[in-house]
Amino acid sequence: MLAVCPGSFDPLTRGHMDVIERTSKFFDDVIVAVAYNTRKPSGWFTGAERVELARDALQGMPHVRVELVDGLLVDFCARVGADAIVKGVRSSADWDSEQTMGLLNRHISGVETLFLMGDPSLSHIASSYVKELALFGADISDFVTPGVERAVRAQAAKRNARFM
Ligand code: PNS
Repeated sequence: MLAVCPGSFDPLTRGHMDVIERTSKFFDDVIVAVAYNTRKPSGWFTGAERVELARDALQGMPHVRVELVDGLLVDFCARVGADAIVKGVRSSADWDSEQTMGLLNRHISGVETLFLMGDPSLSHIASSYVKELALFGADISDFVTPGVERAVRAQAAKRNARFM
């Protein structure tokens, strides 16, 4: 059985890694699908960079590979023969958007989405806040791998955090 774990992964966090690892215990293979979210247009990393960072972070997980989605997630799922989409849900706010996406994806293609509860010890970790913390110089090493941390720091150094 093949699961697709999709997301923007801008960048991949330890919260994502936990969901991916737990998914891999239920499926023979997992594809981490780096996809474009039109509701998050101003990312820090290109799709190719996100794939590279995720591949580096996930290299120790057997039967897990990372691929770029060019277009609709359900078309990608059909192409690779996915049995299900798996997503992590941290909160009711996550649930609201995930439920809508899951229902839309099933409506247009029949593919089912399964949800894993995010681990409460990681539920405060979000890519957007990791980037914001890095922009203002905070330590992000608890939230991402060293490779992702380096890449986020390099991006943060190029960005302007001035408010006034
Ligand atoms: O990590 P995110 O931003 O919650 O992931 C959302 C993502 C990227 C999986 C979603 O926006 C997506 O599937 N994008 C690919 C285009 C697509 O299929 N859109 C239809 C969504 S119902």
